[in-house]
Amino acid sequence: MKIVYHERSKVFHLWNDSISYVMMVLPNGQLGQLYFGKRIHDREDLSDLLELAVRPMASCPFPGDRTFSLEHVKQELPGFGTGDYRSPAVEILQQNGSRISDFQYQSYRVEAGKPGLPGLPATYVEGEQEASTLVVNVEDSVTGICAELFYTIFARGGVLARSIRYCNEGAESVQLERAMSLCLDLPDCDYEWLQLSGAWARERHIKTRKLTMGIQSVGSLRGNSSHQHNPFLVLKRPSATENQGDVIGISLIYSGNFLMQAEVDAHDNTRILAGIHPDTFSWKLEAGDSFQTPEAVMVYTDQGLNGMSQTFHQLYQKRLARGSWRDKERPILINNWEATYFDFTEDKLVKIAEKARDCGVELFVLDDGWFGERSSDRAGLGDWVANRERLPQGIAGIAERIENLGMKFGLWFEPEMINEDSDLYRMHPDWVLAAPQRAKSHGRYQYVLDFSRVEVVDCIYGMMAKILREAKVSYIKWDMNRSITECYSAALPSDRQGEVYHRYILGVYDLYERLTREFPEVLFESCASGGGRFDPGMLYYAPQGWVSDDTDAVERMKIQYGTSLCYPISSMGSHVSTIPNHQVYRKTPLHTRANVAYFGTFGYELDLNRLTEEEIEEVKSQIAFMKKYRSILQFGTFYRLKSPFEGNEMAWMAVSGDKKTAIVGWYRVLNVVNDHYTRLRLAGLAPDICYRNSLSGSVCYGDELMNLGLCTTDATAGEVAVGQEPCTDFESRIYVLKAE
Ligand code: DGJ
Repeated sequence: MKIVYHERSKVFHLWNDSISYVMMVLPNGQLGQLYFGKRIHDREDLSDLLELAVRPMASCPFPGDRTFSLEHVKQELPGFGTGDYRSPAVEILQQNGSRISDFQYQSYRVEAGKPGLPGLPATYVEGEQEASTLVVNVEDSVTGICAELFYTIFARGGVLARSIRYCNEGAESVQLERAMSLCLDLPDCDYEWLQLSGAWARERHIKTRKLTMGIQSVGSLRGNSSHQHNPFLVLKRPSATENQGDVIGISLIYSGNFLMQAEVDAHDNTRILAGIHPDTFSWKLEAGDSFQTPEAVMVYTDQGLNGMSQTFHQLYQKRLARGSWRDKERPILINNWEATYFDFTEDKLVKIAEKARDCGVELFVLDDGWFGERSSDRAGLGDWVANRERLPQGIAGIAERIENLGMKFGLWFEPEMINEDSDLYRMHPDWVLAAPQRAKSHGRYQYVLDFSRVEVVDCIYGMMAKILREAKVSYIKWDMNRSITECYSAALPSDRQGEVYHRYILGVYDLYERLTREFPEVLFESCASGGGRFDPGMLYYAPQGWVSDDTDAVERMKIQYGTSLCYPISSMGSHVSTIPNHQVYRKTPLHTRANVAYFGTFGYELDLNRLTEEEIEEVKSQIAFMKKYRSILQFGTFYRLKSPFEGNEMAWMAVSGDKKTAIVGWYRVLNVVNDHYTRLRLAGLAPDICYRNSLSGSVCYGDELMNLGLCTTDATAGEVAVGQEPCTDFESRIYVLKAE
């Protein structure tokens, strides 16, 4: 990787084996963008990439010159009010009422490695040779606001990480009304836009549309990144497929209100903006203060969507997720939520754990309902002390009983929330986010604690840390079951109320940071009513997250398939649950439920005591299979093969690092009768290796399996031969391919 500044032409060129990023100091002193994409040669003067032309009706800064107009120039930090009519990346409200800014290039420096972002999650390096960072200093001389633009290019992969740090070096305070993390101006709009969107229980479905003139965006104003939209977008060339073609992926490492937007102008330029949502943001920057934006990550590849996903998986698994669990195979767990809901006693839990232990499960997770007066969702949140009626020996007692079974013990918390019916609320009613003189809305009968206040975070930290110090807790599920309303902090003055959403998320990150630092061996799983905050910000603290409250195998195919566009398989909490399924009341075969859950962290969310002996034997062999192959499933190279959004079948696979083992998951929603021969073209195998197929016993070369395909024809649809199991709806198979 290399970062070069060509003094004479004033051009910056950052490149590695995969990508180039080119910028220049524009004739008007601002920083302009010239290129992002596949690596190109460096030249002394790439400034000829700057396109200028006389455009009728353009507003121009230079007297007598009609060629240079900010409306048409690609920029790094476009401001408001000087002739660029597209959405700006920065907007500063000054005391005289003006919002105009003009950030002029000042200087630059190059740092080996990558600096951290204070208080915010971000990608990191483990050695200075892994990345190089360019910091460009620009200044708006009228306000004295300086900005450092950070660009980190990694040695491996087509990745560029960006963020901006503003510092008020002027004499007066200003309001930062918009501080996007990234602006990327692309020279055309011949792209399809992909987003991950949905709702509770159907998160991160892939939605696609063609870019067209105007603004298209996804975002959240809920306080959490949300079930509805993920802080992630893809621009792909229409001809790009899963395995080849130009793709740009943009991901924001942030868990609060965000905006990801593409604006296509009248001349088919595309401006991408990504950052904190400006609608709910206004930050008072006093003289001397600074503000750091979250980090945005841009990936370019010509290897199609799989190539993009593999780049994100590698980066987010190894250089975003942290801690002792980052590289470890994830424990197979059993969670009592769908088995008992609030209806449990300590003995009942231990019975569930015992059966699970006999099957090979490694971790028992006690979900909601163990604390305070929590016998339903109307009370108890905020009181993080064990309910002694249910758990007579407290958390330490039940944890000890579970450990004595030879299992690890995990515990559920919802640290950011409070019920009115709780001791904490009775003591501190003003700790809730609520606006003066206005009613406050509940969500699931609960309210949101004001995590912008350090004393609130301190108090919750104290209660959680006490339990973790006293009891053998190896895992925490950190839940968050409602979005923010009436976002107002009793602790902040009126001119700082626009900071509350962001300060709230900083408080959440702070609590995560303190707990992960004090309890580095604890495995954290993030959760927000399922996947309401499944984002890269959370991954920094919790290397896995509960993908969705929908545990139905068919629904999960879409949810996990969509999630895999950006997030590694090791991060996806996925469990086998009971039938009829509790969300869609569908009955899917036990093997299909497991075949979907294998592509994730894997666990069970049911009472195994209610299964037949035959089913228990099946569960035992599922667990043995997962233990044998989880290193490949969770940490191998993942390929999507067939999309559940496009037909009746879905397929994906994981390949080991040495390419000697591959695990292919094939799934069919509805049964078909007398169908044609079907073949599934695989990916990522070694063409010259012969692989033995675990199901058919056949041996084929990798090139055959990748070009002709793996035969998935179903011999039993229509007529069932004696001794054969008939296929049904919701059929699935796992093929293990092993090098001979
Ligand atoms: C929502 C989570 O997603 C569920 O798994 C469960 O933990 C419940 N909350 C408990 O209230």
